[in-house]
Order: sequence, then C-alpha cells, then structure tokens
Amino acid sequence: MKKFYCILTLLISFSFASTYAQAHKPAAKAPAGGLSASVAAGKKVYTLYCLTCHQADGGGVPNMNPPLIKTSYVLGDKNKIIKIVLKGFNENVEINGDTYTNVMPPQATLTDQEIADVLTYVRNSFGNKAAAIKSADVKKVRTSLK
Ligand code: HEC
Repeated sequence: MKKFYCILTLLISFSFASTYAQAHKPAAKAPAGGLSASVAAGKKVYTLYCLTCHQADGGGVPNMNPPLIKTSYVLGDKNKIIKIVLKGFNENVEINGDTYTNVMPPQATLTDQEIADVLTYVRNSFGNKAAAIKSADVKKVRTSLK
C-alpha cells in the first residue's frame, strides 16, 4: 500500500511538471526577414532620409512638412506611396485642415529594398497599421515610371 502511494505521488508530480513546462514554453520567434526585420531596417533609412522633414515621431512640421500619421497616403494604395518616394511630391496636400505647400524632393537614389523597408516602417509606426511593402512592389513602380 505504501508503495502504491509512492508511485501515485510520483505520477501526479510528474504530470504537473509536464503541464507546467508546456504552458511556459517560450513564444516562437518571428522568422528572420519578416515584418520586424523590414521595420528595423526601414527605421535606419527613415532616420537618414525622411526624419529631418517628417520628424522622429512622424508628426511633421505644421504647414511645412505633412505628418505621416494615419494619412490616406500612408495607409492607402501602396503604388501611390512608392511613387511619392521615387518621384517626390508637389500637390499641396491638405491634411487635418493644414495645407502643405513645400515640395518633397524625390528619393530615387534609394534602392528598391530601402524604399520597401522605409515604407514598411512608416506603415507600421506612429500608430499606423498597414500591409508591408516588398522590394518587388517598388521595382514594378520604378519600371512603370521610366
Ligand atoms: C525635404 C523634406 C522632405 C523629405 C526629406 C521627405 N519628405 Fe515626404 N513630404 C515632404 C513634403 C513637403 C510633402 C508634401 C508635398 C506636397 O504638399 O505636395 C511630403 C509628403 C509625403 C507623403 C504624402 C503625404 C503624407 O503626409 O501622407 C509621404 C507618404 C511622404 N512624404 C513620405 C516620405 C518618406 C518615406 C521620406 C523618406 C524616404 C520622405 N517623405 C522624405 C517633405 C519631405
């Protein structure tokens, strides 16, 4: 009888241990080259090529450089936003009641990958949430503009 209890306690503690281990498994890491990698690379491009005008928080400068926070451009059609970076922008945009008359110079010297990363970063920062942009998307727009 004593032996029986001994085995029972052993079994119970073993099953507790295994359920505990299962519940506390570390979460699987995001695969390399996924969204987080593109966002991290894009942040570096943003700091070098966009931050002076659009600011670190994407808030822009009122009546000079528009914000990149939940605008129809940032969250909208990816081809349009790719074109803005490749060709620059001069359309006097109106955002939240402010008009922006400054001209955005083209950033076409950036590679397809850099543009994809920076736009993926912008579309997933500053409170934005939109699909990633791939270098193949940029390549397509670049070719169509030639
Ligand atoms: C020299 C300043 C300057 C730089 C550098 C610059 N922009 Fe702009 N950007 C502007 C201005 C000014 C406008 C508005 C142009 C207009 O009114 O037609 C604009 C407009 C935009 C828009 C569309 C409007 C909006 O706010 O949603 C996006 C998107 C954008 N820029 C992204 C970028 C990205 C990404 C970079 C870096 C690769 C960048 N810009 C670099 C000044 C700049």
